[in-house]
Amino acid sequence: MPTPQRDILVTSALPYANGQIHLGHLLEYIQTDIWVRFQKSRGHQCSFVCASDAHGTAIMLKAQNEGITPEALIEQVKAEHERDFAAFGVEFDHFHSTHSEENRVLSELIYTRCRDNGAIKRTVIQQLFDTEKGLFLADRYVKGECPKCGAADQYGDNCESCSATYEAYELINPISTLSGSAPVLKDSEHLFFDLPQFQEFLQDWTTSGRLQPQVANKLAEWLDSGLMPWDISRDAPYFGFEIPDAPGKFFYVWLDAPIGYLASFKAHCDATGLDFDHYWKPDSTAEVYHFIGKDIVNFHCLFWPSMLSCADFRTPSAVNVHGFVTVNGAKMSKSRGTFIQASTYLNHLNPEYLRYYYASKLNSRVEDTDLNLEDFVQKVNSDLVGKVVNIASRSAGFINKRFDGQLGNVDANPELSQRFADAADSIADLYERREFSAALREIMGLADAANAWIADVQPWVIAKQEGQDAKLQATCATALNLFRTLMVYLQPVVPTLAGESAEFLRVPELSWNDSQQRLENHQIGAFKPLLQRVDSKNVDAMIDEGKTPEAAPAEVEPTPATPECTIEDFAKIDMRVARIDDCEYVQGAKKLLKLTLDDGSGTPRTVFSGIRSVYQPEDLKGRLCIALVNLKPRQMKFGLSEGMVLAAGEGDSIHLLDINSDAQPGARVS
Ligand code: 2FM
Ligand code: ZN
Repeated sequence: MPTPQRDILVTSALPYANGQIHLGHLLEYIQTDIWVRFQKSRGHQCSFVCASDAHGTAIMLKAQNEGITPEALIEQVKAEHERDFAAFGVEFDHFHSTHSEENRVLSELIYTRCRDNGAIKRTVIQQLFDTEKGLFLADRYVKGECPKCGAADQYGDNCESCSATYEAYELINPISTLSGSAPVLKDSEHLFFDLPQFQEFLQDWTTSGRLQPQVANKLAEWLDSGLMPWDISRDAPYFGFEIPDAPGKFFYVWLDAPIGYLASFKAHCDATGLDFDHYWKPDSTAEVYHFIGKDIVNFHCLFWPSMLSCADFRTPSAVNVHGFVTVNGAKMSKSRGTFIQASTYLNHLNPEYLRYYYASKLNSRVEDTDLNLEDFVQKVNSDLVGKVVNIASRSAGFINKRFDGQLGNVDANPELSQRFADAADSIADLYERREFSAALREIMGLADAANAWIADVQPWVIAKQEGQDAKLQATCATALNLFRTLMVYLQPVVPTLAGESAEFLRVPELSWNDSQQRLENHQIGAFKPLLQRVDSKNVDAMIDEGKTPEAAPAEVEPTPATPECTIEDFAKIDMRVARIDDCEYVQGAKKLLKLTLDDGSGTPRTVFSGIRSVYQPEDLKGRLCIALVNLKPRQMKFGLSEGMVLAAGEGDSIHLLDINSDAQPGARVS
């Protein structure tokens, strides 16, 4: 039964305009794009919009570092993002920028409506201020000693050693990571969105069936523990929109980022004649869906619906949340070459392989998705090439060579053809509910049935038999019709393959209803190979390229100024070559590994090191490193740390310093 036409607006999270798109990002864009393509193929009016998330301190500082204006930086990154999305078949109806006139107007409108409805409060707060840079410091730009356990070098919001959370100004001996100077505490008036006013509204909204159960449960915990007003202003200098009635204050990037969804859609409406208000008025019958990652649920399911309803806009029909991507079972890692940029992937592999693989793993739950590279090669080759394309390649040659491309009008297996047509509703239902993995299993089940039938009737044997032309034509035409129906069902996932298949079958772009009619008395075109098998050598080459610094650039942060050190200071430092005899994860510590070192002293030395994001224990066992052995031992929550191992870089781009394998544990490093 045809479903009535729906008006649907869909968004993916807006990518920050200061970094490259990587395979972790692509999970969401591919998931959303598949859902949108499915809706379009069903004949619905579906718009898919996105934009660059262009504001904030990080973008301002990066532009400064590169010696360009933030406007130039965000333009350049936007172009790179659009290029990558297009290459992966992620087809937005409109890709905008939060640094746009539409977004300024809508941000001011939503803010002033919230203010006029009594939801904005002003409060003076104290914050650390870098007097050299003339900037208030966000937590990630302050480091110091943990106020609870004394661990050195901790960020301004929580301690990696003891997991305490605190305010940046509570750090002992805080240092600005931007200038290396000691910041001072300074007063500033901030504007707050008064979230506690929306407690009751949110209790209803989050339990009204728009959210996955796991998300609704998390929100219930937050709602039970009480909501806090949300700080929506930042002091100059800040790259963003100045708040209309607060000169020198700017909207916090997360205030105008989701409004960017509206701004992008507004620009799309202006370009196409769609009616913006029809989608966004409070009682709208249109549907609005946001696809996001699990790390930004608070912004989309607390602040965003509250702001929208306070400003007299409708709220989203649903927020669809996905988990993170791991590669080969571990967090993406630059040293392992698995922190793969979109552009690196494209140098080696066909983007449709990744679309298919992600789809084969995705469901409607908030689960992490593992890109297992061996499984990736195996699944693409076995399913797409071995099961699907194979049906066409086995049949098209006979139709072209023996029947001049003509399909005729005989169905050699009406029962199987009917089974293919009948599957349309259940596959559609799975796509609709974002159960892509189950949808593909059902589609591959059909492909298996088609292949089993072809293997049974053996057209290549019929072809050699006298007087069996009609049977050969009917068999191959039926196989090609089954192939076409599979392509209708797979088109949201592999649109390029579906497009090329339609071209060879000489039919217009496939739509869902094509699954219900056969091609009869129709002439097809010449068959060209539709998809190459994945060669694991290309996967290896991609990983190798991922290990190069150009492919996985470290986040550039300004180098802090460090105080001068005398030769006498340096002489106090005792560094030794050490061998890592043992290495293990530390339960409850996301960033630490516990190393047991042989430093030549005869007594094993235990060191906790913040390198877990890059190394796994098995990477390190037996490896030589440089250890600082006379550092005052530090009691951590997990045990006593008796020194440090030397590493370069930070976070995901940290590397243990290498030491020549001829060196002996205990040798002094000077
Ligand atoms: O987390 C992020 O990458 C943000 N740039 C997402 C913003 S989504 C929306 F709210 F704008
Ligand atoms: Zn601590």
